[in-house]
Amino acid sequence: MTPSPSAPGSHLASRLGLTERVFAGPRARKLLSRVEDGLEAVEAALADELRVSDALADTTSRYLYEAGGKRIRPMLTLLTSQLGDGATVRVVEGAVALEMTHLGSLYHDDVMDGADVRRGVPSAHAVWGNNVAILTGDLLFSRASQIMARHGERAIQLQADTFERLVLGQMHETVGAQAGDDPVAFYLQVLADKTGSLIAAAAQTGVVFSGGPAEFEEPMRVFGEKIGVAFQLLDDVIDLSADADETGKVPGTDLRAGVPTMPYLLLGEREDSASIALRTRIDEGVARIADGADPAILDDDLAQLREHDATAATLRLAHEWSDHAVAALTPLPSGPVREALTRFAEVVVDRSS
Ligand code: IPE
Ligand code: IPE
Ligand code: MG
Ligand code: MG
Repeated sequence: MTPSPSAPGSHLASRLGLTERVFAGPRARKLLSRVEDGLEAVEAALADELRVSDALADTTSRYLYEAGGKRIRPMLTLLTSQLGDGATVRVVEGAVALEMTHLGSLYHDDVMDGADVRRGVPSAHAVWGNNVAILTGDLLFSRASQIMARHGERAIQLQADTFERLVLGQMHETVGAQAGDDPVAFYLQVLADKTGSLIAAAAQTGVVFSGGPAEFEEPMRVFGEKIGVAFQLLDDVIDLSADADETGKVPGTDLRAGVPTMPYLLLGEREDSASIALRTRIDEGVARIADGADPAILDDDLAQLREHDATAATLRLAHEWSDHAVAALTPLPSGPVREALTRFAEVVVDRSS
């Protein structure tokens, strides 16, 4: 996609090489141009729908949108819409509503995670404080609902069900596994709920809003959900990445704030003394940070976790979920759309930002 000043998201998407990799090969060229046109339309509509008459709300709502983003959810919606009538106004608006839901969730998530950097810029709460960040997220959720309401009851239902699941995923992550829960299984369910739900909705929306065959709706939903888990597992690996310039986030943000991620959970299953000692040091560091110590005290231990087999095992798990997603494509006819979705599943677990 050609970067333009009005389309920061598409710029980031191509920086990731997403489009180039998903639409590789001569058969994909026509499909690529259709999806690119759709992404341009989504970008223009997002810019438009983010307008707020209140000057502060206008600034805060646009803030993270203008900072970038990969737009993987709209890309998925546009791709699966090719199973029906393609990037119609309805499809574009569905994609916009879901991306706006994602955007709103980022404002809230950074408050909850105490994350000070998002998309390479200070997070909204770091600039305006928690209240304005939370209210901006709420505003974006309202806007998303308004857009979905233009498309009837089924669209509103999809939006509401998806949002409920996302919120419960965040809630369960916050509260944590309870006695009797298997921590890894619990966490995988959290990922499916907080991230898989929205990506599943993005994949399903493309088929439903484009009038695609009803028998593809469920496979696309399942595909999106599994991709979402794979994507979030990779996010956990990226959370440990040392290259903040590339990820636009501070490495180890989640773990330093005491948010468990899969490498940490898998480390906890290891019984060798070095693993037990590393886990103990991380736990002690998290407790000291919570008491006000410099988050940098965990630099060395997080570097060790990054090199530990628990992180390699997280990567293997992400690939397994990506394989499950590809298996969900079986009912689709072979052709460029199925090929691009297969590549999409591969690219999601082979990225560094
Ligand atoms: C970040 O999602 C939040 C997660 C669910 C992991 P993305 O990695 O898609 O964020 P942007 O839109 O590209 O910034
Ligand atoms: C974000 O999850 C999920 C939602 C916003 C629903 P994370 O907290 O793991 O994602 P990042 O790492 O901050 O993007
Ligand atoms: Mg976060
Ligand atoms: Mg979070």
